[in-house]
Amino acid sequence: MTQADIARAYLAALTNDLTSKSAADPALAGFVKELKTIDTSVIQRGPLPRLEHPTMAMLDKALEAAEGDATLLPSAAEAARVLDWGQIYDDGSMDPALTEGMLAAQAAGTYGCFSGKTVATGFFLLAPGVHYALHTHAATEIYYCLSGIIDIQHGIDAAPFAVTPGNYSITPADRVHSLSVRSEPVLMIYAWIGELSCPIWLWSQDNDGGWIRERWMRKPGEPWKVEEREVISDEAMAVAHG
Ligand SMILES: [Fe+2]
Repeated sequence: MTQADIARAYLAALTNDLTSKSAADPALAGFVKELKTIDTSVIQRGPLPRLEHPTMAMLDKALEAAEGDATLLPSAAEAARVLDWGQIYDDGSMDPALTEGMLAAQAAGTYGCFSGKTVATGFFLLAPGVHYALHTHAATEIYYCLSGIIDIQHGIDAAPFAVTPGNYSITPADRVHSLSVRSEPVLMIYAWIGELSCPIWLWSQDNDGGWIRERWMRKPGEPWKVEEREVISDEAMAVAHG
């Protein structure tokens, strides 16, 4: 099977899986609706030469430990093996543990195997110990864990919650959130719906304890790049906490 065949079968399996889960969780209905808009008859990109990167060595380990729905997991594992991987961030100003420890492979979206105008979906591979600090984006996001355990925090002061293999979380648009990987690599499905061209705002505290944010943007298929930095307004702070 070609990369596109595998990606097509996987997207169908993911859509079916989320459709079955949406009966119990109506918040998934929006993702199902958007996944059904993906035109898998036209290949947008790929296959590319396999990414040579140390973190790629963790993919097999993560797949061996993967757990999930028996109708989804085999096609997800096959797609994770054949899709084109790349770094999410590649910027010298960031902690190398983060830039080198986070890879993504997109099945559909702005640069994936298939085009997605209002939905982007694929996989994240995160190295052990990675902490992806507080950030916001206008897209609504699902993280669906297949392997490893990811601790997700919503809000500045909230306690993190663990997402384990076979389980997922939904992050509402503009909600501030962070991710922390435990001692095993994490492989998860991600999906963004809504405004795909939105920036990612990375949050941090200045020396006085005030909150600032950096605006990161990207061109399709390229890593995110920082553009500007600003103090977080009270309004943005309120929205970020939902
Ligand atoms: Fe996010």
